[in-house]
Amino acid sequence: KKSVDDINVKGQKVLVRCDFNVPLQDGKITDENRLVAALPTIKKLVADGGKIILCSHLGKPKGEPKPELSLAPVAKRLTELLGQEVKFVPSPVVVDDTVKAAVADMKDGEIILLENTRYRAEETKNGDEFSKELASLCDVFVNDAFGTAHRAHCSNVGVTKYVDTAVVGYLMQKEIDFLGNAVNNPERPFVAILGGAKVSSKISVINNLLDKVDTLIIGGGMSYTFSKALGGHIGKSLCEDDYLQYALDMLKKAEEKGVKLLLPVDNRIGDDFSNDCNIQIVKRGCIPDGWEGMDIGTETEKIFCDAVKDAKTVVWNGPMGCFEMPNFAHGTEAVAKALADTEATTIIGGGDSAAAVNILGYGDKMTHISTGGGASLEFLEGKELPGVAAANDK
Ligand code: 3PG
Repeated sequence: KKSVDDINVKGQKVLVRCDFNVPLQDGKITDENRLVAALPTIKKLVADGGKIILCSHLGKPKGEPKPELSLAPVAKRLTELLGQEVKFVPSPVVVDDTVKAAVADMKDGEIILLENTRYRAEETKNGDEFSKELASLCDVFVNDAFGTAHRAHCSNVGVTKYVDTAVVGYLMQKEIDFLGNAVNNPERPFVAILGGAKVSSKISVINNLLDKVDTLIIGGGMSYTFSKALGGHIGKSLCEDDYLQYALDMLKKAEEKGVKLLLPVDNRIGDDFSNDCNIQIVKRGCIPDGWEGMDIGTETEKIFCDAVKDAKTVVWNGPMGCFEMPNFAHGTEAVAKALADTEATTIIGGGDSAAAVNILGYGDKMTHISTGGGASLEFLEGKELPGVAAANDK
């Protein structure tokens, strides 16, 4: 895999695809982890004397310029983080004559940021015209957008058809190394913890991980489908009735493979979906009508935490309960703390689990927190990510 260490960018125009798809509230960035994670590659290219043209998507503007989805706040914040101007070169069509003139004017070591690539409708269709326009801006293409690697769009895949050199950046490299090693070459015991609302969104992950792990822990909203499949009462808990058989199949597969599959043995339940509802802890499968499971229970916390104690590799994707509500954050927090305390290599899938770990204050205790939500999930499914494949072609 060629990376930014294998090229000489002195005096070259370098188009860098980053994932600056960050949450914004009233024009303010509320989580800047993706920006911070992109800095090493940018700094390296600046130090090597490249002319750096950054690009990214933000949200889903669906091919229309939407002012609230402009990358202007990102340029401003990157300027502060780098201590060097990141000049924002906005255009409603992303690439136009003004943008081309600005690129032609760049000096070595300067940085510009283009407007949201999804202002162009072709972007998400991986169309040729926009891909060519992007490629025409640069001599070299660097893909550092791991968070977008599961998409095949112009700015991360199409563009590589029209450039001579395409390499990966440090962030992409790091993500692939950590996730790839964990899944394909883990130090054992290897424990995976899966949570989150839906079994349906984790089908392929469960299936793939059962071929790899020593222990699979299933908590969160998806565990109630398993509980019901086993004949339990789950009240008004989340459940996907179409996946009951699948849940049984996975339990059987685990047994056949000799994988220890741990489900909650008890749950913290509420009589309303709110932090201040009435709360009790009951055994799995004993949730009364009118109540719903909102977290794992205390006995389960102990079992799950014990299971990671002697692990050498732990991958975690998906919270154990409704961690946004303090009364139902106990399970997620217990698991986060157990991961912080273990000697194991700990890898956190992006999205909700990354947010949970950071909000609960355990972020810097983890070995690696992925910047990819959907991308890390597809990686754990064992899929080849189009963004990674395209960058490796050249
Ligand atoms: C993400 O946040 O998962 C990536 O930036 C991809 O965004 P998308 O789901 O809008 O394609």
